[in-house]
Parts: sequence; structure tokens; C-alpha cells
Amino acid sequence: MAWSPESWRSKPILQVPTYPDTEALAAVENRLRTHPPLVFAGEARNLMSNLAQVSEGKAFLLQGGDCAESFAEFHADNIRDTLRVLLQMAVVLTFGGAVPVVKVGRIAGQFAKPRSDDFETREGVCLPSYRGDNINGIEFTPEARIPDPARLMEGYTQSAATLNLLRAFTNGGYADLHNVHRWMLGFIAGSPASEQFKGLAGRVSEALDFMRACGITPESVPQLRSTDFYTSHEALFLGYEQAMTRVDSTSGDWYDTSAHMVWIGDRTRQLDGAHVEFCRGIKNPLGFKCGPSITNDGLARLCETLNPDNLPGRITLICRFGADKVEETLPRLIRVIKREGFSVVWSCDPMHGNTVKSGTGYKTRPFDRILAETRTFFDVHRAEGTHAGGVHFEMTGQNVTECLGGAQEISEEDLEKRYHTHCDPRLNASQSIELAFLLAESIRAERMKDAGFTA
Ligand code: TRP
Ligand code: MN
Repeated sequence: MAWSPESWRSKPILQVPTYPDTEALAAVENRLRTHPPLVFAGEARNLMSNLAQVSEGKAFLLQGGDCAESFAEFHADNIRDTLRVLLQMAVVLTFGGAVPVVKVGRIAGQFAKPRSDDFETREGVCLPSYRGDNINGIEFTPEARIPDPARLMEGYTQSAATLNLLRAFTNGGYADLHNVHRWMLGFIAGSPASEQFKGLAGRVSEALDFMRACGITPESVPQLRSTDFYTSHEALFLGYEQAMTRVDSTSGDWYDTSAHMVWIGDRTRQLDGAHVEFCRGIKNPLGFKCGPSITNDGLARLCETLNPDNLPGRITLICRFGADKVEETLPRLIRVIKREGFSVVWSCDPMHGNTVKSGTGYKTRPFDRILAETRTFFDVHRAEGTHAGGVHFEMTGQNVTECLGGAQEISEEDLEKRYHTHCDPRLNASQSIELAFLLAESIRAERMKDAGFTA
């Protein structure tokens, strides 16, 4: 039962790459151990108390970002564009839903990817699968697909630089609410999402003018000027996570300092497995993915193992069922959690259960199914008397054509135009904002119900 940062090593593990040179890997992990933490324990604790608010229905969790970050697309503009869309979504939710929004990026460390097959075959050639840029290369060549430990160092460096820029943007003036119109720059002018956002930005500005007239300014109320932005990624490659796990000097507890929050994927959440073992010992807020295959008992045991003291904000259940399965699966899980008295954040991942192959051969996701799963998620919670606490989604600030539909009506023929993802199809900026408006409406409806209004 004793936990240590390396106790996961004696447990069964899935989704591990095979390194040809394990000594070289160990050497890199040792070097990482001497590198500074990317986040601080106190920040992770703040996130956990924010998530505790979410679990009580007093705040909303907005968690999004790339499916997989990549070395090739590492650029200040990309980081800014992703953050900008997340800020736009956040302001839509804060204003439209009238609720505090906890902002968590899938960013600054989201590199490692679980794969359904260890090998990929193309035209009779069979190579190891791509497992994310911190493990191997996406190019379909034997050299690229060999896991290279040096990539872990590059992943660390990119994460550090990304986080540095995010901190500057969120605390250095860019995220000031008075910039709400500026976040529109670079947006496709005239698109339905941009028109809707412009309208909202106008109302926000009006509210700020009113507040200024009342003496509430960014100087007197610094909350107007900056925002807390947290990072997260899947805790998949445990050698890296272990190397970043340090004792916090103020509490004496272990924190994984690679991100504020980490989650366990649907494929690696075995109760006796290495990923659960590692995560149970770190004090960061945790998520785990719940797919249709999760059993009632499996869910209960996982909550118990990962959160034995039932601390609010510790566990986020990231539900990814698919628009056609959410209605049959979610109520059963909600009842388990209620019966056992567990405190959790219910978050909806409307992406991963809605992946299909287009007629033109692309892995895609129909936007209407993404919206349908989100709506049903809210409806089920309303019927069960629980809170739809947040969303978890894959997006980019770029104008990609990866998910079908939305107000731009991206068609199967459009997919090839700007299909840039390294892994799963992402919402583009416009689709993300559309999703935020739908969420704001749903949150408002929930609040009206809580306040005793009938819709
Ligand atoms: N500090 C508040 C918050 O984070 C208000 C705020 C400032 C904000 N900048 C923001 C909200 C940008 C959304 C987006 O909620
Ligand atoms: Mn994904």
C-alpha cells in the first residue's frame, strides 16, 4: 500500500513505448529531475479549491486545448490564438451564464497519446504507432517511429516556454476584460460566431463603463485585469511525470509539477494498474475519463482509491460517451456517485465519443453530435438533480476544417482544405465560440431552475 513516486513501476502498465536504449531514457529522466518545476503546489491547491466550487454548482469548468501539442506547430501565435479563443469562451460563459469560470488548458504538456494499436500498417508496411511528439515522430518512417528520450527534454522545454507566455498573457494585460474587443482580431469577419461575440463584447464593455462610473476600475479591482489560467494534460508517460514529481516544502506533500491538473485516460484507468497507482499519491486535482465501458463498481472503486478522504475538487469525471450513449450511461453513473456520497466534478467531453470516418476518409466529428451530447449531458443532470459542472473539449485557435458542420457548414469536401491535427479532429475558433454560447444558455437555464423559475 505504501506509495512513492516510483511505486507505479511494479504495477501492470498499458500504453508504454519500447525504447531501444533504456539507459539513455533513465539518463534523461534523471536530468529532468533537476529541472525546475513548471507549476507550484500552491497553484494546484488553488485549482482544487476552484474545482470544489464547481462540484457545488457555484462555478463552471472550461477545459480545452489541443488533442496533441506538437513540436512543429510550436509558435507564439498559436499559443496566443488558443488562449484567445479560451478567453472568448470564458467571457461568454461568465457573462452569459453569470457564473465564475475555471479555465484549464490542455496545453503546456499535452504530448503523449494512447493508441488503440501498437503498430500502424500502410500499404503493407508495418511500423510502431505514433505516440505523441514527446515519444516519437509522426512521419511514417522507421527512424521517426523509434522512441527517442531526447524528445522528453524538448517536451519539457516547450512546456516551460508555453507556460511562460500563458502567464504573461493572463497576468500582463492581454486578458484584461477591457480587451474583450481585441480578442476578435484575426477572427473571420462576418462569420455568425463573430457577430454573436461582437454583440456580447459590446454588452461587456457597457457593463465595464457602468462599473467605472461607479468607481470600480482595474486599478481598484485587479480581478478585471487578469485571470487565473491552469494547465493540464493526460498523465500517460509516467517516467516524465515521476521526474516532475516533487515534495512541496510547505505541506510536505507530493505534487506532480508538470501541470496543475492531470487526468487518466479511458484506456489506462485499471484499478491495479500503474497509472492509477501513480496518480493516487500526488496531491494535484485529478481527472479520469469515463467511457461507456466503465462499470458501476469500477467507478466507485476508482473514486475511493484516488480520493480516499473524499476531498471536494480532487476528482473530475470526464465523461465521453457519444451522443447516442450518454442518455443510457450517464444516469447510472450519477446514481452510483450519489449513493456512495462521493464529491466529484461532472465534466462533459463531447468529442471523443463522437469520432467518425468521413466519406472522404478523414477522422472527423460532426458538430451537431458534439452539441447533442452536451445538451443531453445538461438534461440528464437536471433530471437527476446534479450539476453539469464543466466541459472538456479539443480545439485550436486556428481556422481548421477538422470537425463537420457548425455555422460555417464545414462539409466532407471541406475537410481536406485545412486538416492539420496531429491526432484527433478539433473544433476551430468559430465552432468553439458557438459551443460556448450553447453552454451559456444551458448554464442560465440551470440557474433559473435552481432559483425556482420554471423555463
Ligand atoms: N478575473 C475574472 C475571471 O477570471 C474576470 C476576467 C478577467 C475574465 N479577464 C477575463 C473572465 C477574461 C473571462 C475572460 O473570471
Ligand atoms: Mn483526443
